[in-house]
Amino acid sequence: MVGHRFCLSLFFLLALAVTAFSTLEFSRDDFPPEFIFGSGTSAYQVEGAAFQDGRTPSIWDTFTHAGHAHGATGDIACDEYHKYKEDVRLMVETGLDAYRFSISWSRLIPYGRGPVNPKGLSYYNNLINELISHGIQPHVTLCHSDLPQALEDEYGGWLSRKILKDFTVYADVCFREFGDRVLYWTTVNEGNTFVSGGYDVGITPPQRCSTPFGNCTEGNSSSEPYIAAHHILLAHASVVKLYWKKYQNKQHGFIGINVFAMWFVPLTNTTEDIIATQRAQDFYLGWIFGALVFGDYPEIVKKRAGTRIPAFTIQESKQVKGSFDFIGINHYFTTYIKNNREMLKMDQRDFSADVAVDMIPIQDDSPPDQFSVLPWGLQQLLEYFKRVYGNPPIYIHENGQRTQRNSTLNDTGRVKYLQGYIGGLLDAVRNGSNVKGYFIWSFLDVLELLDGYESSYGLYYVDLDDPDLKRYPKLSAHWYSGFLKGRNITPDGPIEIQMNKTPLSDA
Ligand SMILES: *[C@@H]1O[C@H](CO)[C@@H](O)[C@H](O)[C@H]1NC(C)=O
Ligand SMILES: *[C@@H]1O[C@H](CO)[C@@H](O)[C@H](O)[C@H]1NC(C)=O
Ligand SMILES: *[C@@H]1O[C@H](CO)[C@@H](O)[C@H](O)[C@H]1NC(C)=O
Ligand SMILES: *[C@@H]1O[C@H](CO)[C@@H](O)[C@H](O)[C@H]1NC(C)=O
Ligand SMILES: *[C@@H]1O[C@H](CO)[C@@H](O)[C@H](O)[C@H]1NC(C)=O
Ligand SMILES: *[C@@H]1O[C@H](CO)[C@@H](O)[C@H](O)[C@H]1NC(C)=O
Repeated sequence: MVGHRFCLSLFFLLALAVTAFSTLEFSRDDFPPEFIFGSGTSAYQVEGAAFQDGRTPSIWDTFTHAGHAHGATGDIACDEYHKYKEDVRLMVETGLDAYRFSISWSRLIPYGRGPVNPKGLSYYNNLINELISHGIQPHVTLCHSDLPQALEDEYGGWLSRKILKDFTVYADVCFREFGDRVLYWTTVNEGNTFVSGGYDVGITPPQRCSTPFGNCTEGNSSSEPYIAAHHILLAHASVVKLYWKKYQNKQHGFIGINVFAMWFVPLTNTTEDIIATQRAQDFYLGWIFGALVFGDYPEIVKKRAGTRIPAFTIQESKQVKGSFDFIGINHYFTTYIKNNREMLKMDQRDFSADVAVDMIPIQDDSPPDQFSVLPWGLQQLLEYFKRVYGNPPIYIHENGQRTQRNSTLNDTGRVKYLQGYIGGLLDAVRNGSNVKGYFIWSFLDVLELLDGYESSYGLYYVDLDDPDLKRYPKLSAHWYSGFLKGRNITPDGPIEIQMNKTPLSDA
């Protein structure tokens, strides 16, 4: 176990030297002046205080308490609920322009509906004020997988149309209370993976699925992913309509939605793999963006899902079409796509069998537990948004490297990844991609959905063996800070970040 003492000694090691770069390739000054760089977390993954001050459980609490995140829970997590001032100070030291976080619906409105919890309200006011007073832009997500369990129990959460009203009322409270200071709102995080994990294979909250597609107590893998996604889109559109009508004129903010966006390349140049790759784009991106940009699902999605996917009425289609100021994407990797002939022919199908592809990881020289560094995949993804969806304003809400949690603070693999992807992003921006900002996932080592505390993405290590949950900057925190403060970066060159004498944190 990597404990306190290990961290301290490594910290001092890292805190010794000075910066040196061989080739000067780019710096943040090469990005447009208004481009923002930040980092993010989400409520259940970072706040802790899960049963404190009136918060009630979300579907994610239920999931972790059933042991599905390797026995880990967010009961305490990083305790940002109590340590937000310290965390904002670390953000300032790192040099972030913006912090992306989410509001816990069941902290602000316990049970999902009804009176506002004054303690939840003051927590988010305090956090937002702390950020603003230090010049850090808050970018806020309204629902990052953590739907109030009470609404799941009462009417099946996203499976019911009743969610439209409750989500809109909740959003109204957020805009009214925080919208004078929060200018960037995202309705739902990763709607596409939320429903495939939660309603098809059933391995993420709310863990619904049917046999033979998964092993759950309830659900229907053939139809529920489509129903839940449909309601997410309608609820999103309803909230956007509210924001545009009631708030945008006086608050001058922006609103969008977030999707998980992998990039796909055909495994071979056979027609079947090329068609399968397009099918994967249509199911993973087109499902959401077809609706948002064109007002309907892609033809192939409607064809393969048949009556299992709800149809938009003319009115709904009008409301969903164009209902965003920006879109947020979470991008981590690129995979090969191979056509899956057997799935393609199956009669009884779930969402995965509708897509009917195999995803085959592309290996580079990164360690096997880490993502390959393939910045060209991000560039091609952004070109696809230009070509197919009219180059909408985009925030990269999440991008980052996974490592084993407490292996080392010397996370050279993460630095290599970030260096590569920020370089690729610059090339895409220079070629006309409309990206407005970039957030590293994650600011701290947070609770991860499936891995609990066993994997990590953070710029800062959180020592869970220390009752104070002390934070320690990794090499990547020093690296990002250097980049944000104007240091030059070489996209492919050797990593020669060495540590500044001044520690990032108050070790
Ligand atoms: C990593 O940290 C967690 C939480 O403190 C601990 O349970 C686990 O044993 C540690 N793993 C290793 C490999 O040190
Ligand atoms: C299905 O889940 C139950 C309860 O979690 C478990 O006992 C059972 O072994 C699982 N079955 C399969 C086939 O995985
Ligand atoms: C799932 O829903 C579909 C469409 O409504 C229905 O045809 C099918 O029988 C259902 N399957 C299960 C396992 O309930
Ligand atoms: C497929 O064709 C493209 C363009 O000609 C080429 O760049 C690529 O290497 C080919 N892929 C395979 C797996 O042969
Ligand atoms: C960090 O790791 C790299 C590569 O694994 C190594 O070259 C370097 O010496 C390490 N730095 C420290 C401070 O341990
Ligand atoms: C740059 O943009 C142009 C026009 O949108 C496009 O045709 C071209 O393929 C892009 N170049 C790269 C390297 O993506």
